[in-house]
Amino acid sequence: MASPKRGMRKGLTAYGDEEFSLFLRKAFVKAMGYTDDALDRPIVGITNTFSGFNACHRNVPELIEAVKRGVMLAGGLPVEFPVITLHESFAYPTSMYLRNLMSIDTEEMIKGQPVDSVVLIGGCDKTVPALLMGAASANVPAIMLVTGPMITGDHKGERLGACTDCRRFWGKFRAGEISEQEIGEINNKLAPSAGTCMVMGTASTMALVTEAMGMMLPGGACTPAVMADRLRHAEASGARAVAMAKEKLTPDKIMTPEAFENALRVLLAVGGSTNAIVHLTAMAGRLGIQIDLDTFDKMGRETPVLVDLKPTGQHYMEDLEKAGGLVVVLREIRKLLNLDALTVTGDTLGENIKAAAPAWKQDVVRPFNDPIFKGGSIAVLRGNLAPEGAIIKQAAATPKLMQHTGRAVVFESLEDLANRIDDPKLDVKEDDILVMQNAGPKGAPGMPEAGYLPIPKKLAQKGVKDMIRISDARMSGTAFGAIVLHVTPEAALGGPLALVKTGDKIKLDVPARKIELLVSDEELEARRKLWKKPRAHKDDSRGYRKLFLNEVTQADRGCDFEFLAPPLTVKVPRVTR
Ligand code: FES
Repeated sequence: MASPKRGMRKGLTAYGDEEFSLFLRKAFVKAMGYTDDALDRPIVGITNTFSGFNACHRNVPELIEAVKRGVMLAGGLPVEFPVITLHESFAYPTSMYLRNLMSIDTEEMIKGQPVDSVVLIGGCDKTVPALLMGAASANVPAIMLVTGPMITGDHKGERLGACTDCRRFWGKFRAGEISEQEIGEINNKLAPSAGTCMVMGTASTMALVTEAMGMMLPGGACTPAVMADRLRHAEASGARAVAMAKEKLTPDKIMTPEAFENALRVLLAVGGSTNAIVHLTAMAGRLGIQIDLDTFDKMGRETPVLVDLKPTGQHYMEDLEKAGGLVVVLREIRKLLNLDALTVTGDTLGENIKAAAPAWKQDVVRPFNDPIFKGGSIAVLRGNLAPEGAIIKQAAATPKLMQHTGRAVVFESLEDLANRIDDPKLDVKEDDILVMQNAGPKGAPGMPEAGYLPIPKKLAQKGVKDMIRISDARMSGTAFGAIVLHVTPEAALGGPLALVKTGDKIKLDVPARKIELLVSDEELEARRKLWKKPRAHKDDSRGYRKLFLNEVTQADRGCDFEFLAPPLTVKVPRVTR
């Protein structure tokens, strides 16, 4: 007789008679044509995150078929089920606003259905953290499978990649350097295949840190979406999910403080997206683990950027795959990793590294002692403008702006920015600092990737490529510039960012990790007394919007919902070297 905790007997619908519940369940599921033998196998759930709006997940149907093959070859029964999906350009007001909804959907579907393990198929930026947050809370054996990066396109002999090159060419178009016809041609070529953005954006970063954390089979992060190897990896993931069900290898055994430390090391070494900090913080939070920003900053100072990928370097994800994938990076930073951390293979990270193919000559991953950027690719800033922290990806910024004092030019909201940034009468100069308020977790809402404020058109046309920009928003991992993000507390909560006025002086000193508003405490106190909460939007009082506004936490807590994370009891990193 089957174990009461496994397969079809798991989580029976409550009718007050368990045997009847099972009888009824089997009667319905048999309408799908299953035999008793099939139904007695370990059941592997597969999240179907395909949508006609999500091009990054275009290959999900064929991945599902490959996962199913792997599950059946290993003696399990694969059952796919839908969870919501998110694409960056098709999630109003921003996909971050919906990440927690997707995580709740994932958690409840895993808990509510009789799955012994689950293969999580995601890829586009928010989907990987959302799936892992949900799986961590459900704590059923889970393995991540990403859709994989796109391959690159071409324009006049130049390689193109979403979306670093989207921004680069749009900047040229705004500056009048290329025509409307040419920007139209480029638009056709920026996303030339199925898969996720192929630069070191959030999707690539999350794939790499997930592999480093041990929640994905080795080698799974970099293989392009269109390669046959991606399907073989999917098949292997399905087979492994059957074994994980039998071993009861749950996420809490893999997503440990040591695993999160490994993920943070890899985030730094690959020059990854700033968004990953928010996502890793939220994922860790689901397991009661706190990511400490100041210690993360210290880790940054000793972790060089080794991967030469856009936007900080020159290559793309398919080049990292050809160079050997993530294991090449792991080998280089080996002495900084917790090699005993368990992974979905059932082996440790150290054992996985040993089992990988030997290295060969390549130019995508630099040796530890010859990095592309020495250390601190992402720096954590503090000061009277950001008492709870802010971050800057200094590896992707203009070096001479990393110590700069300038005059603030303030925009009160995204709308205000859109209305005035290109106004020829806007009083702005190259060495000013652009400040945007009310674009944080509650303010926007959803903390959109709006921190990459455009260079005002009149300056762009004079050839200005970078300026200091400060906000409580996030930034796409594919963007670059002297951009201070995640200012906490946010302006919509009355944080100091809300008190900045055009004409104030701001001092940024990244080597000293400081960001200061050069206005006296007395003046700031007087402004605080006059500060008014931003006006509510018409949808704020109902539905998911109301839940979001009531419950979303600040960036330093991952923008998760207050009620979804248990009390934080362990800090990462725990290991001091
Ligand atoms: Fe999906 Fe970039 S839009 S990964």
